[in-house]
Amino acid sequence: MRTIAVAMQKGGSGKTTTAVNLAAALAERGRRVLVVDVDPQANATSWFGVRDVGKGIFDCLCENGSISDALVRTATAGVDLVPASAWLVGAEKALAHEVGAETILRRRLKPAADGYDLALVDTPPTLGVLTVGALAAADQVLVPVEAHVLALNGLAQLLRTVEAVRDRLNESLGLLGMVACRVDARTRHGIEVVEELRKRFPEQTFRTVIRENIRLAEAPSFGQPVTAYDGKSAGAEDYRALAAEVLSRWGVGGQ
Ligand SMILES: Nc1ncnc2c1ncn2[C@@H]1O[C@H](COP(=O)(O)OP(=O)(O)O)[C@@H](O)[C@H]1O
Ligand SMILES: [Mg+2]
Repeated sequence: MRTIAVAMQKGGSGKTTTAVNLAAALAERGRRVLVVDVDPQANATSWFGVRDVGKGIFDCLCENGSISDALVRTATAGVDLVPASAWLVGAEKALAHEVGAETILRRRLKPAADGYDLALVDTPPTLGVLTVGALAAADQVLVPVEAHVLALNGLAQLLRTVEAVRDRLNESLGLLGMVACRVDARTRHGIEVVEELRKRFPEQTFRTVIRENIRLAEAPSFGQPVTAYDGKSAGAEDYRALAAEVLSRWGVGGQ
């Protein structure tokens, strides 16, 4: 199992949208995907229409629960979910005095590794212990960059955190890449942010950009990834293209 942390400390970057829809697009290609929601806001969990989950991931992080007890199937074939719950709001505090708190998720995920090709971890908009724990558990980090605003400032801080995690917790942590999200090609600004991203990170920036698409914003209310909600939409197209590009970066393209 390859574990990908979807991280960017800025809220509204497209983390949850990317975690959910990339998971669904990879599942369409036959991959068995585990989405792990470590955001107390539980947006990925509610996107899949999953409710009344008990403590979910909180049990695994704070109370010695196992991933297999916490996980639920989703209505999307090939995608299982370790849900977040309101309990997670207390997790940063509960973990603050816990020895090795940042490596708990990594240890918990290990026994689940046989059942999945990959895990996508959706993280909160902070660089606290939940996000650092996701980076410590990950093989690679995927960074959504919102093209609406000048989101590039936050990127340097995130990359410093990735470097610190590599140095202290997880030396094999790689950068899968940056993906521009919410790109509105009708505005100069949207295009400029993508160009700037490509200039600064020519190797790492995905060729695929995720366009601003209303279907992506609507889909959570219907409890479906965009590939199911409107499979012909620009949003579905873009996340399928991203899935293909991710697989080709891993050298497993046409498989
Ligand atoms: N490509 C897109 N097109 C339209 N709306 C989007 C797109 N990506 C994200 N959004 C919307 O932007 C908001 C923030 O996205 P989200 O994925 O929740 O960000 P994060 O998880 O980083 O906070 C949500 O309301 C979401 O519906
Ligand atoms: Mg989110």
